Order: sequence, then structure tokens, then C-alpha cells
Amino acid sequence: MTRSPVDVVLAAASQADRWEAAFRRALPDARIHCWPDVPSAADYAFVWKPPEALFARCAIRRAIFNLGAGVDALLSLGTLPRDVPVIRLEDAGMAMQMAEYVTLAVLRAFREQDAYAQSQREARWVPRRRLDKSAFRIGLLGVGVLGRVVVKALRALDFPVVGWSRSLGSVDDVLVLAGDDGLREVLRQSQMLVLLLPCTTQTRRMLDRRLLSQLPRGAHVVNIARGPLVVEDDLLALLDEGHLASATLDVFEEEPLPAAHRFWHHPRVVVTPHVSAATLVDVSVAQVAAKVAAIERGEAASGVVDVSRGY
Ligand code: NAP
Ligand code: GLV
Repeated sequence: MTRSPVDVVLAAASQADRWEAAFRRALPDARIHCWPDVPSAADYAFVWKPPEALFARCAIRRAIFNLGAGVDALLSLGTLPRDVPVIRLEDAGMAMQMAEYVTLAVLRAFREQDAYAQSQREARWVPRRRLDKSAFRIGLLGVGVLGRVVVKALRALDFPVVGWSRSLGSVDDVLVLAGDDGLREVLRQSQMLVLLLPCTTQTRRMLDRRLLSQLPRGAHVVNIARGPLVVEDDLLALLDEGHLASATLDVFEEEPLPAAHRFWHHPRVVVTPHVSAATLVDVSVAQVAAKVAAIERGEAASGVVDVSRGY
């Protein structure tokens, strides 16, 4: 029996043309309908930050694919159907990019690159005593698909690492703690804190003054997860007071970061425009197409989001 072609609706808030071309190449037999020209029903939705109206206008029968790792924007839509699986990107080339970004921030702090840059500006030859690597522990909040690769990259450079996630465990020789006591322990031990948690009702505004103050004086913060995890005013206050040495921020409460925001010109802040892990269109499309093929064969696809947990 020949199967009828699947109907797909595509709504991508960025790079819409590139997504469309790549999906047409990867799924030549599918009928792909691009927002806003969508039918009243389709088998699949491929979306990144879609408009609320998409799911009000088009009923999805089999699965909704999120064209990114984080599903916070998608799950916030009141129109999102609750009876259709949501499937997110798993790594798709982002994990190694995260490892690069974190390694850069760690080495910049550990090798005191800012101090040497300052000496150069002043034409001063000032060798500094090497920091003790065994005391430069990196705490990673969120040791999932992306975090695990970050752990491996840091361990390859021999940095001590401790993780924190919902479930207790380990990645290679790195302990992953859990719960409030585990979090306190990670904060107490971390010279640098890296955030790779999803943004959920549990994690939103989690990193406030109370928690960030538990980091040792002179610690560094790296946020590559989502801006709303951090209370930005609290972070700024701790930087101003000198409790925190630096913040490397790729994500913000409001994006693009408003021109008047203090982060832009703060001497202890590094700002990047949500690029720690770019979405690689071709790799992502190949992953989604493989999962669609699996579902069409009656098999399960990985990466199904637990909507009640929010990730
Ligand atoms: P993931 O595989 O779902 O991993 C999430 C990790 O967070 C898991 O270790 C999970 O613990 C932990 N976690 C979730 N809620 C928690 C809680 N309440 N308390 C403690 N731990 C909790 O996600 P991923 O693929 O690694 O992606 C992580 C996030 O990175 C995404 O959600 C997205 O927001 C962000 N991201 C940012 C960019 C960027 O360019 N800046 C790019 C891609 C992704 P369990 O393992 O125990 O469940
Ligand atoms: C990007 O931020 C993503 O969640 O994939």
C-alpha cells in the first residue's frame, strides 16, 4: 500500500528560508506549508518560536518538533496542544559549541587573560604567579545533553568539575549532585559557575542574590542557558560589590539586550548575542527528518519533552 505524503507546517522565527529549503531537500515527498499559509490540519509542525495563532489555526496530528534545544518559548504558548508529543533538538552540533564557549571563558579567567591585556595596554611586563588548577573548580548547573559534553571538554584540560542536576549521578569521573544540599555544595566549591539548565517554573529567577552569594568571593559566572534563570540586578550588585569577579553572558532577560542595559559597558561583564551554540540548520534538519522517518515506521523518537517538567 502506498502511503500518502505527510503534511508539515513550518514556522521558524529566524532563518525561515534556510529551514524551508533544507526541509524540502530532506523530505522531498512531504507537503511543506510555510506559515502563514497553513492548512487546518497537518501531521507535523516544525517550529521555532511560532506565533500563538499557528496551533489555533492548524491541528497537529503526530508531533511538534522544536527547532532548538530549549522549549521554554514553545511551552509558554497557550494554544500549544497538550495531546501531541513535543520533540526537541538533541545536541545537533550544539554541544561541542557549548564546550568551546565554556572552555574560552574558563581559560580566560584561569590564565588571567584580562590582567595580561591590561598590562599590555600599559606596556608593563608583569608575570603573575600561576593559579592553582586543582583549586579552580567549575560547577555546572544542568548536566544534560549539552552539559555532558562540556564536562568532558573541561576534564580533558584537567579542570576539577562538579555538576548539579535533578537526578544524582556522574559523568565519567565527575560527581553530579542534586537537591538543595547538592546545590549549596556546588556553589560553595565553584570558582566558576556555568548555567546550562532549561528555563522552567523551577529554575526561573533561581540565581538570585541569596544563591549567587554562596559562591566564593572572586568567583565567575557563565550563563549560556537562558537569561531569566538569573536575577540580573542581583548579579550586577554582586559584581559591583566585588563578590563576583566576572560574568560571561550569552543570554538575557530581554533579547536583544537593550542598548541602555548596564551589562554592555560593565568592566566585569562579557556580552555575546545568544551565540554560544548556533542552531546548525542542516544538522538539525537531518535529525528531525530521521525522527519523522522513525515515527512513520511506527518507532519511538527520542527527545520527547516532558511538558509537566518543562524540559
Ligand atoms: P537537557 O538535556 O534537558 O538537560 C537539562 C539538564 O538540566 C539536566 O541535567 C536536568 O536534570 C537539569 N535540570 C532541569 N531542571 C532542573 C532542576 N529543576 N533542578 C536541577 N536540575 C535540573 O537540556 P540540554 O539539551 O542540555 O539544554 C539545556 C538548555 O540549554 C536548554 O534548555 C536551553 O535553554 C539552553 N540552550 C542555550 C543555547 C544558547 O545558544 N545559549 C543553545 C542551546 C540550548 P536531569 O538530567 O536530572 O533531568
Ligand atoms: C537555543 O537557544 C536553543 O535552545 O536551541
